[in-house]
Amino acid sequence: MHTIIPAPKSFEQGKGSFAPAPSAAIGWTGPAAARDVAELLAEYLRPATGLALPVREGAAEITLVQTGDPAPDADGFLPEAYTLRVDAASGIRIEAQSAAGLARGVQTLRQLLVAGAPAAFIACRVEDAPAFRWRGLHLDVSRHFFGADDVCRFIELLAQHRMNVFHWHLTDDQGWRVEIKRYPKLAEVGSVRARTIVGHHSKWPHKWDDTPHCGFYTQDEIRRVVAFAARRHVTVVPEIDMPGHMEAAIAAYPEIGVGYSPVKEVRDRWGISKEVLSLDDECVDFCKNVWSEMFDMFPGLYMHIGGDEAPTTAWEESAKAQSTMAARGLTSPRAMQSWFTARMSEFFRDHGKRLIGWDEILEGEELDPSSAVMYWRSHHKEVDISAAAKAGHKIVCAPTSFTYLDYYQAEPVSEEPLAIGGLLTLPHVFSFDPLEGIAPEAHSAVLGGQGQLWTEYIATRDHLDYMTYPRACALAETLWCGAAAHPRFSDFSARLRTHAERLAAQGVRFHPL
Ligand code: ACM
Repeated sequence: MHTIIPAPKSFEQGKGSFAPAPSAAIGWTGPAAARDVAELLAEYLRPATGLALPVREGAAEITLVQTGDPAPDADGFLPEAYTLRVDAASGIRIEAQSAAGLARGVQTLRQLLVAGAPAAFIACRVEDAPAFRWRGLHLDVSRHFFGADDVCRFIELLAQHRMNVFHWHLTDDQGWRVEIKRYPKLAEVGSVRARTIVGHHSKWPHKWDDTPHCGFYTQDEIRRVVAFAARRHVTVVPEIDMPGHMEAAIAAYPEIGVGYSPVKEVRDRWGISKEVLSLDDECVDFCKNVWSEMFDMFPGLYMHIGGDEAPTTAWEESAKAQSTMAARGLTSPRAMQSWFTARMSEFFRDHGKRLIGWDEILEGEELDPSSAVMYWRSHHKEVDISAAAKAGHKIVCAPTSFTYLDYYQAEPVSEEPLAIGGLLTLPHVFSFDPLEGIAPEAHSAVLGGQGQLWTEYIATRDHLDYMTYPRACALAETLWCGAAAHPRFSDFSARLRTHAERLAAQGVRFHPL
């Protein structure tokens, strides 16, 4: 049996194994994108086998065959199916319609490698394709900043699990992390938090560490991360959370905000802030200008506008917001957000982009059906996914109840490092089915799912590893296989024992199995 995670659709063991000779090469045929994947494979195999295999066009001992050059589908995804053959005598062949499929095949091939002298790949035949098109991990770099190298490592690890979306939560009340040239104070002022809460934020009185927490990405660094992901056929979905969760931006440009604090500053506590964007015309222009620079940095289709947890109290109590609402004919404060999201959705569409937001963006009247919705509030309780799908929205399932990897993962939680709360064990995450409870006629609207790494309580790379793995392995498998073809947990956990050695060899500090 194999030890591949996520499990491929079909796996047939062959006889023996194939050990590339030092004189071997990696060949590619088809569009030039196949060459880029071949070069990535060569890079991966150098440390893994000790061989510096040259890459050349045409057939070789290891050959990547790209048979087509399909355009992305209507939702922006390329086909990812591939076949992989390892033959002890004739070598290795990965075949796919698209370079994205080849990239997935390359990750599977890496897991067939048995270390030794010489290193060899297990002979087999694999046929594989994912159940869901969106298989993502999210990372909050606002609450705690992770530098570009750590972000690339995070992407490399998710790509190894044949995931294809990196959702980059770049801004929040507690820190703005992306350089916007037109508004330099967003990074200069908005990225600096004076102090950070020590202990859980529910514990009173609060204590702080009195150490400034800083960091932002220059546009060059953002482009480097996006290129790193693109090479692995991972799409980066950036999030600028608005109109709530904007205190860091409001600290930099107080005129865009409306709220309570007489002195605006980057928020130094967790939880939901009542400070929100004013959403007057100048503020909406500000948002559009920010997104224009984002469009230039992020080539993907989906742009995440957040939209969660935006209290309406400030709009209710501000005379300026009331006059903005009156001028627009808006009769309820909640309509402020839905009016804004609808305008931003049009703006995104006019620029060839698609808006996605947390499920609160549905709480209005105007959202255009092309906007996608990311569900986070406990699966299907507060929100009716089937109705949203019927209205034409595409859906990504990211429920707290299965995918919030910032929750505790083992009991007793008192023996775990401090976390935000909750409990999502490995078997529980493995049991996640994005389609559960959704009407069958709405299934085709579900793009997939993703895991969330909110970082209020995750300050270091080791701790991030610990919260992410091995639960992200389980999530990757549920999203790749789908419930219908889902292996049993015992099968997964047997493979995980070998897979954990792969993670350990890369220095991943995962939670003990
Ligand atoms: C969220 O967890 N507020 C999306």
